[in-house]
Amino acid sequence: MDSLAEALLANADPEALERQDVPDEYLAAHLRATDVGMFDEVDDKDVRKSLHIGRVPMPRIAPDEVLVAVMASSINYNTVWSATFEPVPTFEFLKRNARQGGFAARHDLPHHVVGSDAAGVVVRVGDGVRRWRVGDHVVVSCVQVDEEEPATHADAMLGAEQRIWGFETNFGGLAHYAVVRASQLLPKPGHLTWEEAAGNLLTAATSYRMLVSDRGARVKQGDIVLIWGATGGLGAFAVQMVKNAGGIPIGVVGSESRADVLRRLGCDVVINRNDIGLGGDAPLTPEKTIELGKRLGREIRRQVGEDPHIVFDYIGRATFGISVFVVRKGGTVVTCGSSTGYDHHFDNRYLWMNLKRIIGSHAANLQEQAECNRLFRLGRIAPTLSEVYPLSETAEAARLVQQNRHIGKVGVLCMAPETGLGVTDPELRARLGEARINPLRNLRGAPGADETAGPAVTRGREA
Ligand SMILES: NC(=O)c1ccc[n+]([C@@H]2O[C@H](COP(=O)([O-])OP(=O)(O)OC[C@H]3O[C@@H](n4cnc5c(N)ncnc54)[C@H](OP(=O)(O)O)[C@@H]3O)[C@@H](O)[C@H]2O)c1
Repeated sequence: MDSLAEALLANADPEALERQDVPDEYLAAHLRATDVGMFDEVDDKDVRKSLHIGRVPMPRIAPDEVLVAVMASSINYNTVWSATFEPVPTFEFLKRNARQGGFAARHDLPHHVVGSDAAGVVVRVGDGVRRWRVGDHVVVSCVQVDEEEPATHADAMLGAEQRIWGFETNFGGLAHYAVVRASQLLPKPGHLTWEEAAGNLLTAATSYRMLVSDRGARVKQGDIVLIWGATGGLGAFAVQMVKNAGGIPIGVVGSESRADVLRRLGCDVVINRNDIGLGGDAPLTPEKTIELGKRLGREIRRQVGEDPHIVFDYIGRATFGISVFVVRKGGTVVTCGSSTGYDHHFDNRYLWMNLKRIIGSHAANLQEQAECNRLFRLGRIAPTLSEVYPLSETAEAARLVQQNRHIGKVGVLCMAPETGLGVTDPELRARLGEARINPLRNLRGAPGADETAGPAVTRGREA
């Protein structure tokens, strides 16, 4: 372990942290450019074969950046995309980024350090950074923007140079150190441990923009909201946000064990998609889409009495046509992804004749991220962490998500030597109680799988 890390783990003060040298190399989960193409013609693109753990050179920080010692991170689905080199190898993004020149040229390397969530400690700040200091405890928004672009000031997500950190940029969060722009930082909720804080922002803020923000579906009291994959990374936060807004969440899940988890999260209405024949990832014919849409619509009316106002979709090809069919007249389908394929089909008659809307949404700007982070800081939204892996087993953690065998979020301990560290507001933690802070801990829920995660939960010291 390097001397800066040792000082951090010994709770050294900011001056002592500044006195320690930044190491020349650091441990990171990364992809290799030489592996691109390894999955051509391969059916099971097993991310354990492409995700490497090893030392990489430490980059220099730009004047508007900070170096964060990453205590914990989490697996997002974008790491599955990166590690399968689909739909395009992320090395293409790094090259495009580097074409801007200057500090951006650093990103184009033969390795890509991935990961788009982190909780940790600021250990260096660039000369132009105003709001953050060495020693600050932070969580990192995945949205990197160019504040010199006019569009960024209307909505940061509209900037042409907006990038997802650790996916479209290098130096991501699944590592001992990460390089981030100062405009990605937010204060870490003090009552959460490192791993609880690290699993939230990317998916929670994405759900927040999709459902709550003026740019999203603007859920309100009494709205019925259909949520696909309701125990997944996005879905388990969406359920909580609909409840907070006074809406009625209808959660769709793929197994009975997940249905139980969803009830535990307080979801009003639970549908096991297998019960109504909504199973596979295969593309649906137009006729099948309407047949399944009618079946789902009947089930929703049976349980709630009305059609949904909003459908929360990121499943893509396997569900999107059904979502457009099933949402009520004047209702909204909001989408941020396409796990089962991005070539969607829907019957446009149901859209225009019924004055429905489709909203495309992507991540969240810093204001939306801050509003979402505030909900965590107030204890109004709970982390959905189910299990935690050491950095050395990042590939196993990503494999779990790739195979849809996880619940909520899967955490990764980076520099933190064990779980349970990083709490600076024990009073709030005690007031909220462990059960409220960790509603999904130690659960797993793939069809037919054990419900308890057991061996994956770490307490050991990370190498
Ligand atoms: N644009 C953005 O800003 C943004 C941000 C975050 C995520 N995303 C994208 O959103 C997607 C989901 O991310 P996530 O973190 O929530 O992933 P996740 O944790 O893997 O959750 C995905 C959920 O999808 C459901 N699912 C899988 N196959 C299905 C099928 N055939 N039909 C219906 N449901 C199915 C699963 O639930 P059941 O099996 O229980 O039904 C699972 O819980 C990914 O494609 C990701 O890249 C986009």
